[in-house]
Amino acid sequence: MKHLISLLDLTKDELRRILEIAESLKSDLARSKKMAPLQGSNLALIFEKQSLRTRVSFEAGMTQLGGGCLFLGQEAGWGVRESMKDFSEVLSEYVDVIACRSYSHQTVEELAQYCTVPVINALTDFCHPCQALADVHTIAEHVGGFNSLAGQAVAYIGDANNVARSLAIACGKLDMSLTIACPEKYQFDTTALDAISKGCDGFVVQQTTDARAAVENAVAIYTDVWASMGQEQEQQQREQDFAEYQVNEELLSVAAKDSIFLHCLPARRGQEVTDAVMDGPQSRVVTQAGNRMHAQKGLLMWLLQEVSE
Ligand code: CP
Ligand code: NVA
Repeated sequence: MKHLISLLDLTKDELRRILEIAESLKSDLARSKKMAPLQGSNLALIFEKQSLRTRVSFEAGMTQLGGGCLFLGQEAGWGVRESMKDFSEVLSEYVDVIACRSYSHQTVEELAQYCTVPVINALTDFCHPCQALADVHTIAEHVGGFNSLAGQAVAYIGDANNVARSLAIACGKLDMSLTIACPEKYQFDTTALDAISKGCDGFVVQQTTDARAAVENAVAIYTDVWASMGQEQEQQQREQDFAEYQVNEELLSVAAKDSIFLHCLPARRGQEVTDAVMDGPQSRVVTQAGNRMHAQKGLLMWLLQEVSE
């Protein structure tokens, strides 16, 4: 039995295997090939924060695989009505897999410590592994498949946050490069860089304050909101600090014409990205969001069928 709390939990081969299953399930769906390999299995979703993509893609994906889903609201009372240990052990008696979105990364770690079924991190303040699975899936589709990913350069313009951390690990494990452009105070610190490097065979995340230099050779240009969920009180300060880091047509003009634009969404149009870029010919944001479902189907199949013992 395995959990997916961070992509650092996966070997390179395991990551590739999940992506391979996801690709094959996506193509089965496109050919209307129906299967129910997870019939009789249930996924519980526990979310402390808002969600459209993660919640719905898990629910739709699990249903397509023949399984069931339960969305647990606050009334389930985890960590409030009873201890995390009791909650986790009992929930594990009913369901086969759990996906959790929490403010604190420790909450998901604690859940995984006590659950006797796989726990998936559906976003914490620290990382967003399911997002990165879909991100690299989308880049692979653009460059001609997973075998063409090695050596590709990704530019991330914005806060070195949860999304950036998982993207960095995915790039490291798939032999791609990643350059993050943002003000120095929002870059990864040395502890974060060391952890990513240690988990990815010495991979080095490049960091710069120069957004134009970052996008020059990139095949994918990525951004995320300047203030994440839980950082609402910093919104104004961050708007000032990131003002020079908007992904707009001027910045894209420095990049290769065949590069793509990615965003995990939800976007704050007019802040980190303009309408022209979001809706422009290089944008793949809707496909990327769609790939959340395919990537997570791959993850569910891998967790429940290939490493279930
Ligand atoms: N990208 C992402 O995780 O979106 P949601 O917050 O809508 O789930
Ligand atoms: N960094 C963002 C991602 C949302 C999907 C947040 O944590 O709010």
